[in-house]
Amino acid sequence: MGIITVLTSGKGGVGKSTLAAGIGCALAERGQKVLIIDGDAGMGSLDIILGVSQKKVFDLADVFEGKCEPFRAIYRSPVYRGVSMIPAARTLDKLASQRDMRRMCRGYARHYDQVLIDCPAGIGLGFSSACGSADRALIITTPDLVCARDGAMVGEMLRHGGISARLLINRLRSTPIIRGKAPDVDDIIDTVNVRLLGIVPDDEVLAVSAANGLPLAGNRPCVEAYRNIAKRLLGDSVPLMDLQKYAP
Ligand SMILES: Nc1ncnc2c1ncn2[C@@H]1O[C@H](COP(=O)(O)OP(=O)(O)O)[C@@H](O)[C@H]1O
Ligand SMILES: [Mg+2]
Repeated sequence: MGIITVLTSGKGGVGKSTLAAGIGCALAERGQKVLIIDGDAGMGSLDIILGVSQKKVFDLADVFEGKCEPFRAIYRSPVYRGVSMIPAARTLDKLASQRDMRRMCRGYARHYDQVLIDCPAGIGLGFSSACGSADRALIITTPDLVCARDGAMVGEMLRHGGISARLLINRLRSTPIIRGKAPDVDDIIDTVNVRLLGIVPDDEVLAVSAANGLPLAGNRPCVEAYRNIAKRLLGDSVPLMDLQKYAP
């Protein structure tokens, strides 16, 4: 049985989908069979990032409605090698119940080592049905205190639901921190109040590659961060990367 991990956040636009693709790819590099489920109904973007938007026919809602076999809605990414995905439902009115979602994720986890669920931002129905299916959660925040405070709310809900959660800080830029002009990593961890799993630096190539469904070069700082996170998810202990190395 594979492990089901949900990627969540209080605010949208913090990088959940980008991280799901990057971490998924890094897990696949380590020999894991990876499936990413786009749970962001109506706002799915993983099909674009993973380069399957042209070939997708079925989506998550089709699986729930019995319009296709569960495995017909799975598409292999031609960009991120070793990663497969299920596109998001096109509209919000086709949201799966918590029970359906759990049954479906458990079914996929019998065939994949790692099932990642890209969850909608906030604490609505999409969040609860995705989290109700997961073995563990990753809370994503950017390094600003407003975003971190909303992440704390998500952390609280997860604690309530008995789901273990770890924190990922995305888009960190070291220069303003060095100058004392932005909250540092400790401020963010204290605000979210969840143990840190990893930090991903801000990397301008991501927007270009994501928008065009292009692969990332292996030497990018964000790719190094994704690889470290993947190793930690697999139980290895890896030191935090030296962000100063990438300070502009
Ligand atoms: N580490 C990063 N460095 C630079 N840009 C990033 C990074 N992570 C995400 N982005 C950009 O941030 C935007 C929002 O990311 P996305 O993954 O769609 O967020 P979410 O799924 O949380 O709404 C996208 O344009 C993406 O390319
Ligand atoms: Mg998203």
